[in-house]
Amino acid sequence: MSLALHVNVDHVATLRQARGTRYPDPVEAALQAERAGADGITVHLREDRRHIQERDVRVLREVVRGTYNLEMAASDDGLRIALAVRPDHVTLVPERREERTTEGGLEVAGARASLAKVIAPLQAAGIKVSLFIAPDLAQIDASAALGVEQVELHTGEYAEAALRAHALEALRSGAAHAHAAGLRVAAGHGLNVANVAAIAAIDAVVELNIGHAIVADAVFEGFAGAVRAMREAMDRGRAGL
Ligand code: PXP
Repeated sequence: MSLALHVNVDHVATLRQARGTRYPDPVEAALQAERAGADGITVHLREDRRHIQERDVRVLREVVRGTYNLEMAASDDGLRIALAVRPDHVTLVPERREERTTEGGLEVAGARASLAKVIAPLQAAGIKVSLFIAPDLAQIDASAALGVEQVELHTGEYAEAALRAHALEALRSGAAHAHAAGLRVAAGHGLNVANVAAIAAIDAVVELNIGHAIVADAVFEGFAGAVRAMREAMDRGRAGL
């Protein structure tokens, strides 16, 4: 199976919002990322609008040629925007205002009714739904039972763990379990050129969502160079090199 790279351009917007300017524009980053080989573009419209704005979400729908993935909380506000914009995928993520980034996966099993209320209208509009979860078998089973098309396994613990082997094993078995349950399997969070290979090597994973490290590398290498370097690191990992 091939492995798609979806570039998350949130932190281009972080730099713009830091000064309230019109630059740098995440839309321009998305265009460059796709020209450099990205298969899709991801943005997270946070409730506090700390980086991506509604304008970005709308304009990106006009320009993204590959898969356009909107990450959002399972809220009425998020649902309204997603139904108006119609991204290809919506990834439902947990959100807490005080967090620095998305710190954990969704608690799917305990929130089935409230998630179903958001999932049903998205799917009825032809939008594929992905749930961002920890590589935990109970969360995977609960996601499959909700009838979503995809899960995205949270790689944050793997990226940060001093003892990586354990976190990697959880991702490997979680990916195989989700694939066997008929789910498409994505992964992401905290991935960079140095740690991506082992995740790219997991057969059942068909999509990676990567943002912060690409934007950070772009400061020194340019956006296209950073995307190409990530693509190469993924391809080496997939090939087992
Ligand atoms: N996937 C999801 C669901 C996320 O919420 C994020 C962070 O917004 C990412 C992937 C990308 O994480 P990072 O910016 O650490 O690459």
